[in-house]
Amino acid sequence: MSSHPSLFIRRARILLPSGEFMVGDVKICGDEIVEVASTILDTAKETGDKEIDADGLTLLPGVIDPQVHFREPGLEHKEDLFTASCACAKGGVTGFLEMPNTRPLTTTQANLDDKLRRAAQKCLVNYGFFMGATAENLPDLLEANPTCGIKIFMGSMHGALLVDREEWLEAIFAKGERLITVHAEDQDRINRRRQEFAGITDPAIHSQIQDNQAALNATQLALRLSKKYQRRLHILHMSTGEEAELLRQDKPSWVTAEVTPQHLVLNTDAYAKIGTLAQMNPPLRSHRDNEVLWQALLDGVIDFIATDHAPHTLEEKAQGYPNTPSGMPGVETSLPIMLTQAMQGRCTVAQVSNWMSTAVAKAYKIPKKGAIAPGYDADLVLVDLDNYRPVLREELLTKCGWSPFEGWNLTGWPVFTIVGGQVVYEKGKLYTDVRGKALTFG
Ligand code: DOR
Repeated sequence: MSSHPSLFIRRARILLPSGEFMVGDVKICGDEIVEVASTILDTAKETGDKEIDADGLTLLPGVIDPQVHFREPGLEHKEDLFTASCACAKGGVTGFLEMPNTRPLTTTQANLDDKLRRAAQKCLVNYGFFMGATAENLPDLLEANPTCGIKIFMGSMHGALLVDREEWLEAIFAKGERLITVHAEDQDRINRRRQEFAGITDPAIHSQIQDNQAALNATQLALRLSKKYQRRLHILHMSTGEEAELLRQDKPSWVTAEVTPQHLVLNTDAYAKIGTLAQMNPPLRSHRDNEVLWQALLDGVIDFIATDHAPHTLEEKAQGYPNTPSGMPGVETSLPIMLTQAMQGRCTVAQVSNWMSTAVAKAYKIPKKGAIAPGYDADLVLVDLDNYRPVLREELLTKCGWSPFEGWNLTGWPVFTIVGGQVVYEKGKLYTDVRGKALTFG
């Protein structure tokens, strides 16, 4: 069939596109899945053919994390494309979409090209990059290629990437058809509340300064503009029950939304336990917000999951609020966090896989990803749903070297991760010579 060596995965519990499971074999030729069947009679015979005995393991489409901050170029003391993609491989993340707040900012074709070049050299998994909107770069936003979409920081940013004036936003929504994604927080309200709460150093105040209303105001504005121009809109890391209820009442067919694992399983109680490590934007919310977001995800009001992996060093996080940067890492824990929720009965494994792979591929129109079926790319993860292991700081691969979930006992850890038909992670070992490819966006 092909001169490529084959990879056979044997006796796996395979998640099929229907959402059902089947115990069986998968044959991969080159970077493509060519057969899925209860028994595939071919055996490894070409030089380089490989077989994985997946007895007892569950085979899922590789995770596509659609919102990460990998810090290269310019902030490599926190993370770089190599370390981040190692963390991805360990976490079962076979593709990522990365944000433009690097140095320089990803606001021009030249800077996008630079990231793509770096990723081709360094990334163990597949990659795509957002173009950052400024008040001035509309021509770049319209023309740049290949990009997964436009990122607008309506709040929680400073410098050129902050697009917080309605006329600037309107100009972007009015022109072109490319997907617009928004970090929806109302910067004016945040500025006012920062003054009001000045002097408070308890990081828990962060969730009050950047409160639910700040998020709701911005989401309402983005929705209004999206409806006015029928412009494809994606709401990044939705964090409040109010936004979820708003979308439940009124969600145009061209609008999608995501939530992070941390906005589902952490809340403001985390400040007492991990202090500024819990500080992120938009901030962690209440237990009630957790519940409303979960229900919205289960009901399809929220479409998928992203980590917002945003590493900062422990030194930076130790500076004391409000001098501490916002953000937490996530790519190497997101799949086990969500699969643990599934095993505890909160949702199903098939739902987790839909939210972390299939629905992402669909929303960003990434061809041949997000399903285990002939003709799809062989981006896969084999997880162990029968054993629990804690998140340990010393095992983390992210350069920042910490996780908000340290000590959490999780199941669903990846045992093998496969990118483009090549094993990139196997039982604790990384194959650092594997390289991902640039994702394409239909
Ligand atoms: O907490 C956050 N950190 N939220 C963002 O939107 C940006 C990110 C970062 O880059 O550190």
